[in-house]
Amino acid sequence: MLNIALPKGRLGEKVYDILERAGYPCEAIKENGRKLIFENTELGIRYFWVKPSDVSIYVERGAADIGIAGKDILLEYNPNVYELLDLNIGKCRVAVAGKKGFRDDTRRTLKVATKFVNIAKTHYRSVSRDIDIIKLNGSIELAPILGLSDVIVDIVETGTTLKENDLDVLETIVPISARLISNKASFKFKTAEIEKLVEGVRLQIKEND
Ligand code: PRP
Repeated sequence: MLNIALPKGRLGEKVYDILERAGYPCEAIKENGRKLIFENTELGIRYFWVKPSDVSIYVERGAADIGIAGKDILLEYNPNVYELLDLNIGKCRVAVAGKKGFRDDTRRTLKVATKFVNIAKTHYRSVSRDIDIIKLNGSIELAPILGLSDVIVDIVETGTTLKENDLDVLETIVPISARLISNKASFKFKTAEIEKLVEGVRLQIKEND
């Protein structure tokens, strides 16, 4: 049985569609209930929905053999897994944003609000900028507006959230997309099954999305 961790939400539905087209359907998953685990015993697969930021934890610890996680999560938590494929969906970027017209005063420590503490630290270390990190868990855009921070480091997809809150992108740190990841031991013991799935999925990936 191949255990597959899917990220709950809009991205997960896209991912499931790709897997279905790749030959790994599980009809029951489309019923909009509260069930979290779905099996297709004939194909030997078991899907489960997990919080997107938890996918790499399930995969790293072997509760899932494979999973789909955003590159943002992989950069932030650096899990000990194999990254097998870029799915070319869930595209966005991690960026620095601030109030319109914000100018960095480099004589002062920069206050940075984010849920991506490690990505932010690595970025500012690379430009030797002193920062004070304020870890938040959501609605990060509020921080500069309320004076909690000078800037934020956060996901920007369409840019709508920033626009509607009078914030601007100051700098892009890294482009993001969804990645298929595998537990290292699973890859060793279920190589053929995993490679077959990866090849099936690869054929369904649209290059220029
Ligand atoms: C993310 C991110 C931004 C928003 C960006 O939030 O933190 O708030 O999406 O998307 P946009 O550029 O298309 O407006 P998410 O929905 O993941 O929720 P969160 O506030 O819990 O992080």
